Amino acid sequence: MHIPYRPIALSLVAMIFSGIFLARAQAGGGHYFAPVSDPVVREECGSCHLAFPPSMLPASSWKRMMGELDKHFGTDASVSPATAEHITRYLSENAADTGGQRYGSKLMRGVSVQNPPLRITELPKWVREHREISSKGWLRNNVRTKANCLACHADAERGYYDE
Ligand code: HEC
Ligand code: HEC
Repeated sequence: MHIPYRPIALSLVAMIFSGIFLARAQAGGGHYFAPVSDPVVREECGSCHLAFPPSMLPASSWKRMMGELDKHFGTDASVSPATAEHITRYLSENAADTGGQRYGSKLMRGVSVQNPPLRITELPKWVREHREISSKGWLRNNVRTKANCLACHADAERGYYDE
């Protein structure tokens, strides 16, 4: 009499648990950086690499980067002045030190806003989070470069960086 009901009870428990985990993941879970929501920024800054979340760098970094887009890490990534202005405004307004993001500001520990870094991958907190990856790990053929977040964080496009 009881046996036929057990699988149902079990799957009910499983459903409740997966519901809890889903809710926690969506609430942030500790690794959430809001992805770029502006379509122009997504297009212009997401064609060569992941459109990096604005909350990963301070506004001064974005302004400095946008001022020298023609010499962007060895490439010319320049856009029209109007587009540059639009992108700069979006990135600055949603930056780590302006957007009010909790996790963004955590990445800012030890970062000088006067001498703004251009690389997320050089932030002290980023380096610490990745210190356990061996030099071989970075050279694995699908990674190529530290900036290739998507190689290891499959869900980075949606803002999640918990592997
Ligand atoms: C023409 C290709 C191209 C475009 C377009 C482009 N980038 Fe890049 N970007 C690069 C390259 C190449 C690197 C260096 C990647 C590396 O070190 O492996 C880079 C690196 C970066 C980094 C540093 C990543 C790190 O190491 O932490 C940031 C931040 C960045 N880009 C932001 C932007 C923004 C913002 C835009 C839009 C305005 C943009 N990029 C558009 C090619 C591009
Ligand atoms: C070679 C693989 C690899 C690459 C490439 C990589 N990461 Fe990671 N990342 C990891 C691992 C492994 C961890 C530690 C995961 C953990 O402890 O949950 C981590 C942790 C993080 C964390 C901290 C998450 C937490 O636990 O709070 C952030 C944020 C992050 N990475 C962002 C990035 C960004 C942004 C990029 C690209 C600029 C990037 N990662 C590139 C492997 C990688």
